[in-house]
Formats: sequence, C-alpha cells, structure tokens
Amino acid sequence: MTITIGTPLQPSAFKVLLLGSGELGKEVVISLQRLGVEVHAADRYKDAPAMQVAHFAYTLNMADATALQELIDQVKPNLIVPEIEAIATELLVHIEEQNTTTIIPSAKAVNLTMNREGIRTLAADKLGLPTSNFRFADNLSAFRSACDDIGYPNFVKPVMSSSGKGQSHIKSFDEVDAAWEYALQSARVNQGKVIIESQIDFDFEITLLTVRAKHPKTGQIETHFCNPIGHQQENGDYIESWQPQPMSPKALKTAQDIADKITTALGGCGIFGVELFVKGDQVWFSEVSPRPHDTGLVTLASQFQNEFELHARAILGLPVNTQQHSTAASAVIYAGVNGKNLSFTHLETALANPTTDLRLFGKPEGFDKRRMGVITARASTTDEARKIARESAQQVNVTV
Ligand SMILES: Nc1ncnc2c1ncn2[C@@H]1O[C@H](COP(=O)(O)OP(=O)(O)OP(=O)(O)O)[C@@H](O)[C@H]1O
Ligand SMILES: [Mg+2]
Repeated sequence: MTITIGTPLQPSAFKVLLLGSGELGKEVVISLQRLGVEVHAADRYKDAPAMQVAHFAYTLNMADATALQELIDQVKPNLIVPEIEAIATELLVHIEEQNTTTIIPSAKAVNLTMNREGIRTLAADKLGLPTSNFRFADNLSAFRSACDDIGYPNFVKPVMSSSGKGQSHIKSFDEVDAAWEYALQSARVNQGKVIIESQIDFDFEITLLTVRAKHPKTGQIETHFCNPIGHQQENGDYIESWQPQPMSPKALKTAQDIADKITTALGGCGIFGVELFVKGDQVWFSEVSPRPHDTGLVTLASQFQNEFELHARAILGLPVNTQQHSTAASAVIYAGVNGKNLSFTHLETALANPTTDLRLFGKPEGFDKRRMGVITARASTTDEARKIARESAQQVNVTV
C-alpha cells in the first residue's frame, strides 16, 4: 500500500494524533508538519511543547479509556502515535483490531513496553536475550527475599515508571524497606509491583536507535540502525549524550542482533530506542522505547535525518537514511528553579561557539530537575563535542 498525503485542514488531510506532547513529540510534530501532515496533539496539561506546533491541541487524561475513545472518534486519525507510556493501552489494542487506524508502531509494542514486566518477559524469557538477573515482587516480604536472591548492589524500579521515578540503587539489605516505600510512592501508575535487577558492571551504555521502515520498491519492512549513541545518566535521567560511541565490531554486531530481535518481535514501522549495556564484547539488553529516545536528541546535530524525521518518515511508509554526517553531543538544560513563566538568558554566550545549537522546549512550568531545553554541539571528537555542549548548557541562566 502506498501513502497519499492530502492537504492539512482540508477534507483530504492525512491526520496524525499524537498522544503525549513533550519535547520529543514537539520535534516529531515539526517533522510531520514539514511533510504536510495534519497534526493533533494531546496531553494531560495545556500548552505542552508539542501542542504549540500542532494544528489542534487537546487536554485530557489519556489513561481514561472513555475520554480517549471520544477524542479518537472526533479526530478520526489515520495514525495514532503514542509519545508517553501512561495511556489506556488496552483501548489501543481494541482500535488496532478494528483496522481503521494504525497504532504506531503497533498496539503490541505500546502495550508491552509500558510495563517493565511485559518487555522483560518478552526479551529474556521468550527471545532469550541477555539481560541482568531479575525478579518481580508485589509485596514487602516477597520483595525482601527477591532482593536477597538477586544480591547487592541491585536496582529496584516500579514496573510502570520512567525517567528514574521511584528507582533505588540498593547497596545492602538495610536499604530494602525504604526502597519498597519509595517505589510505591513514586510509581507512575501505582501498580504495587516492582522489578529487582542485578547490577551490570558495564564499561558504557548506549542507545541503539533502530528504525523499521518500508523498502521503497518492495514495501517490505527493513531494519536500519543509527550509529550507537553513548550517554551519561544521573538518577535515572539522561544528562548528556554523544554519537558515535566507539565499540568493538563484535559488540556492535551483538547489539544490532539484539535490537533486530526485540524490534521485530514488537512489530510495526517507526523508530525504537534500544537501551543496551556494553562491557568489552559483551552486550546486555536493558529496555526499549517504541518511539524517539531522549538521548537521541544528539541526532539533531549529527545525522542527515534526525531521529524525529526518521520516525515521521518510517510511520508514513517513506524510505529512511540513518547515516551520520558529524560527530556531535547533546547536554541537557534543567530548570534548576521551581515555577511558571520561566525566562532564559545568557543565550548569546551559550551559543557563541558556532557549532552549537539550542532547543528550548517551551514548557509552561519548570521544577529543579525538569528538562527545559538542550544544547547540541559538533566537533571532531566526541570528547570535544561533549565539552562544548556541557559548557554551553551551563551558560544558560533560568529565572522565575
Ligand atoms: N541493572 C542495571 N545495571 C546497571 N545499571 C543500571 C541497571 N538498571 C538501570 N541502570 C542505570 O539506571 C539508568 C536508568 O534505568 P532505566 O533505563 O531502566 O530507567 P528508566 O526509568 O526507564 O529511565 P529512562 O526513562 O530515562 O530510560 C540506566 O540507564 C543505567 O544507567
Ligand atoms: Mg532507560
């Protein structure tokens, strides 16, 4: 089947409904707009980043299946593109079955990846991919014995959570009860269930952006890989990323094999952020996002088609090119303050180096560790690009 893109705001419009309107969605919307797609953006709060560049915006609780169904009936999108995990995914499964709207990349992918139990069971038990040792627990006594089984140090994460929320790094049995309380309080959807993972002693971690896109002639879905992206995490949140991350040819091959297996099992077209841990030639699967990845913001500066353009093209059934043109890095700009109506200054100094670029996401409210923007920088080495991006991001001054 070939794609026809009509005219936005006219009866022939090709419509995409974005569920979740954060900074990654904002770039996806811009890419879709450039291709003449009519974009509808939804989120739980007004004036979210992607809403500011979409044709239409809706504020609703997307975990509420009735409200979500009403919106879908009203918009009648050709594609539904989930950008966050807190969505009534069972409704998406139902919609996919009706064959009127395509869920990106697939209802199965969205459903399995929203819950760490779903994706871990698929990766480790069904596909046999190497992962950390893990257990699940849904009450304190089971949690205590699971922690002892796995040993210390270990990582504890609510099964439904992202961006490090509710996570603990437990170093000894003394910390177990506090980690349980913390996980339950901070879980995105209070499922009362956690995963306990053994710590992998990796040399570095990567995101392998993997695109499933149709071949322009055969229409067959093919898998494409971007160069590996290295990144630095702090409390489960990314602070800087760079591309390429050097790794041995054997480790790269293993990483691509793992990414191929997991994305093929999830199905559909689009970009996936496959998170992997690497030590020498050894590679472990950690998790996967069926959408652009925050660490992939570096591709704004490093690739002919950045991760958002790749996603837009792949979901529309268009050919993709994952080639990198420059060595680059990205560094996060945090609010550092709490409040609405924030202002950003010292941008002239931040952007003094001609290889740098800036995205300010336009979030209506900030708090200390909220990501408000990103700096990208290019250089001949990743070390140099990281230094430029970091120093530039530090220049940006945020005030209430
Ligand atoms: N088993 C592990 N061994 C070693 N490090 C780990 C392990 N699990 C998590 N980490 C560290 O914590 C980071 C965050 O973990 P993870 O990606 O599972 O959380 P998350 O909440 O989904 O984060 P995000 O949404 O930002 O991807 C990892 O990138 C890694 O640095
Ligand atoms: Mg992660």
